[in-house]
Amino acid sequence: MSGKLVVVSNRIPTGDTPSGGLVVALHGALEQSGGLWVGAHPDTAGPGDTGLTEIDRGSYTRLAFHLSEAEYDSYYLGFANSVLWPLCHGRADLVELERSYEEGYMAVNRRVARLLADKIEPDDTVWVHDYHFLPLAGELRKLGVSARIGYFLHIPFPPLSALSTLPSPDDFADWLASYNLIGLQTRRDTARCLEMFRSDPRAEFMTDGTVKFQDRVVSVRSFPIGIEVDRFAEAAATPTDAADLGADMGEQLVIGVDRLDYSKGLPNRFRAFGEYLDRKPEDAPRASLLQVAPPTRERVAAYRAIRAELEEIAGRLNGAHSELDWTPIRYIHHAVDRDLLAVLYRRAEACLVTSLADGMNLVAKEYVAAQDPEDPGVLILSRFAGAGEDMTEALLVNPYDVSEMAEAIATALSMPLEERKRRHAACLRVVRDSDVSGWAQRFVDCLRNCVPTLAYDGLPDEVPERTRSRTPVPETS
Ligand code: ADP
Ligand code: G6P
Repeated sequence: MSGKLVVVSNRIPTGDTPSGGLVVALHGALEQSGGLWVGAHPDTAGPGDTGLTEIDRGSYTRLAFHLSEAEYDSYYLGFANSVLWPLCHGRADLVELERSYEEGYMAVNRRVARLLADKIEPDDTVWVHDYHFLPLAGELRKLGVSARIGYFLHIPFPPLSALSTLPSPDDFADWLASYNLIGLQTRRDTARCLEMFRSDPRAEFMTDGTVKFQDRVVSVRSFPIGIEVDRFAEAAATPTDAADLGADMGEQLVIGVDRLDYSKGLPNRFRAFGEYLDRKPEDAPRASLLQVAPPTRERVAAYRAIRAELEEIAGRLNGAHSELDWTPIRYIHHAVDRDLLAVLYRRAEACLVTSLADGMNLVAKEYVAAQDPEDPGVLILSRFAGAGEDMTEALLVNPYDVSEMAEAIATALSMPLEERKRRHAACLRVVRDSDVSGWAQRFVDCLRNCVPTLAYDGLPDEVPERTRSRTPVPETS
């Protein structure tokens, strides 16, 4: 197959340091394969419907569609980040149901489909990313696009019960069924997606593991996302002026790097660090927490609330524990250059990833890749992050249990070298197995092998009648 790769995601890199797992991962993948990446222009001042603008041409082409202020409010801040994001991260209590959000979301998906349709040739491979574009394949099919279209959800797949929170709960399965392939981060997500189809009377399971949904056929598989392992390891080991950074922060450094999102479990992380300081023996080395947390989606009330809460906790803990020459929590509110980040990871004796829910969590993988294998630090990892499914040799913690996390910090900071090396080697194997170039290649290969779609005119001939079955078939990936 010779067609090009067309990637669609809301966020595209615009030259600044990318933060957010999706952009970081796809930038790496597209740099290697070349192709076209279409996403939202960061400037929302314009009128909206202005076509696609080329924003950069490097090893791949980037085209941007403009969102008007109203579209940004309803599609991005509204349905994507005030409905789908909290829903998928187990926070149905934060879901804001406004009719205009769903209307704006559908309108943007329809518009992007119109902008894209004539750029897609039948032998192209289209790869759509994340919760901003669930209905995109359906809209493209209505415009006659017959190319293979795959979808990757970077965030947790919601449990069946949570889907009932949506204004039109049945749409979710219908949107997804217009793709040829649905990729998910973990086996747990895949099981949830299959559970959704199993409970839907419109779906039938085929003996080859695919799902027939009315007149469409879709495959569901997990593809755990990764990072550019070698590039990260190299950056971490390259001496820079910043190599001493942190040396004045105390004898031991614990690091956290997250967008300031309520799903990252930051308040409990700070509390756990405070409890560790309270309980630490007098003669244990002094330890600091360096938390890098750039603000994100600040016009959504829940994000302003988490920022205020965290600042209050950090202020209280620093007030209680600081000394004249030392502040226990350093809290940086902006993005950090990625090479510097790698150096800081390597400098840190432990890393705290305490998400209450997380699709994968690339920080966990970056921290492991950045370590010196002869003297590695310890990853403390939430069992609710996708990364915890395979990185079982990290110190796995329950992020709701502050005392357990405080104990994990003490364990990590006093762990003997041999145990650190053993745990790190096991985690590094997992990180290498999911290297981002292999991840993208696996997804694209799998998509190119999927049965093609005959735009809404019945099942493709390749799916013989005898493979149809009502018996659920376990997913094998
Ligand atoms: P999410 O996708 O929810 O933001 P991930 O941990 O999967 O969470 O991905 C976050 C990505 O963004 C990582 O690659 C991380 O290095 C990067 N990142 C997060 N915060 C910063 C920051 N302050 N400066 C630079 N990069 C950051
Ligand atoms: C997560 C999501 C991405 C998103 C990123 C940053 O990684 O899965 O889709 O791009 O967070 O969020 P933002 O809203 O700034 O794009």
